[in-house]
Amino acid sequence: MNRRYHITTFGCQMNKADSERMAGILEEMGFEWVDTPDGADLILYNTCTIRDNAEQKVYSYLGKQAKRKQEQPDLTLVVAGCVAQQEGEALLRRVPELDLVMGPQHANRLRDLIEQVEQGNQVVATEPVHIFEDITRPRRDSEVTAWVNVIYGCNERCTYCVVPNVRGIEQSRMPAAIRAEMEELGRQGFREVTLLGQNIDAYGRDIPGSKPDGSHLHTFTDLLYHVHDVAGIERIRFATSHPRYFTERLIRACAELPKVCEHFHIPFQSGDNDVLKAMARGYTREKYLRIIDTIRRYMPDAAISADAIVGFPGETEEQFENTLRLVETVGFDQLNTAAYSPRPGTPAAVWDSQLADAVKSDRLQRLNHLVATKAAERSQRYQDRIEDVLVEDQNPKNSNQVMGRTRSNRLTFFPGDITALKGQRVAVKITDVRAFSLTGEMLEPALV
Ligand code: SAH
Ligand code: SF4
Ligand code: F3S
Repeated sequence: MNRRYHITTFGCQMNKADSERMAGILEEMGFEWVDTPDGADLILYNTCTIRDNAEQKVYSYLGKQAKRKQEQPDLTLVVAGCVAQQEGEALLRRVPELDLVMGPQHANRLRDLIEQVEQGNQVVATEPVHIFEDITRPRRDSEVTAWVNVIYGCNERCTYCVVPNVRGIEQSRMPAAIRAEMEELGRQGFREVTLLGQNIDAYGRDIPGSKPDGSHLHTFTDLLYHVHDVAGIERIRFATSHPRYFTERLIRACAELPKVCEHFHIPFQSGDNDVLKAMARGYTREKYLRIIDTIRRYMPDAAISADAIVGFPGETEEQFENTLRLVETVGFDQLNTAAYSPRPGTPAAVWDSQLADAVKSDRLQRLNHLVATKAAERSQRYQDRIEDVLVEDQNPKNSNQVMGRTRSNRLTFFPGDITALKGQRVAVKITDVRAFSLTGEMLEPALV
């Protein structure tokens, strides 16, 4: 019988993409996927450490499996991802049952690392490496939409953030490799690609060479022009954008290139200039608002989403209200909000201006309330409209319905048969709107 594996993934889209690649490697090694960790011979936790609660979750899962290993000594336990990178050897001391601790830069080396484990070693792989092009076919969760990494790592130093410590310096993939991966996806029947980077606007600045005018040889905007015509791929998305580097040229490209969807994920973190400065974000609230205005000038209907942090050290009530006002002014389609969590190895964690948990959670609640109100207002514009929906799957809560997304990334449900519609773009008349999703009915003829 084949050995069975299970991967549990925490964290962001990068981790999801890494998990799909690691699953591909394990399957190539002859492992077979099993739905629960309890039935597996190899369990891999791909972990996240962006906030303390993300990290703690991992330890509670691990504790349980470590106990099981005492009865099943041939169970292989792997911790990958950002907690692995942050804790390294310390993780082995905390959970001695672990076989392998591997940072995100080592995802493509999983085969090699497992082989070392099979020779009886306990392995820690957290040294910084050059990330090699991955030749394994990932095991993708969806048959319709796919992640494609374009740049790994982050060279920013936001004072609250662990990502540069755990993901390392920026490493861009070459445009030809990205295009080749997209062409393969197109051949396999994928319809939508999301290009990924922690700071996607930084794409290309680590690739040597420059244009005659002295600018970088490859920019993210150039990359969009380079890949936009890949056969079979009908939609292109990207995340995450950093306001510091967001250019009008990029906005123009998005408006010009028909496959690039009108959805922008541009975290602002705080609406207050002094807090932004303390965060070392490198832009002001005014600059952020100018970016949004420019996007809306080119694409009046564009959807805007973002991330924000409340309760950053020293944040006053008034400064927090500047964040509320920014949300009020922009009217986000979606906003990921979080209470500030002090992270080991980051500057802000040791400042003595930390706020009480009660203050942070009160602000979070007030912000979330406003976000839901604004998102509901933004959803109103879809009422009775005809939207181009790419069908991804069945509605997990109602098997008579399928679900997909509009170009603007609104989740949309409508009655239909998934076997006939999966991967199709359908014209859907929107009949019901909610803050973060829509319901509609398919128009005939089905194809847009
Ligand atoms: N590269 C992206 C964000 C990556 S982390 C950017 O620059 O915007 C994802 C989100 O987690 C961040 O946007 C931020 O809102 C949140 N986050 C990061 N560190 C955090 C911390 N210490 N406490 C609370 N939220 C945090
Ligand atoms: Fe973290 Fe800032 Fe880099 Fe985003 S840009 S990953 S918030 S350090
Ligand atoms: Fe978490 Fe690592 Fe992503 S810390 S948010 S999984 S980069």
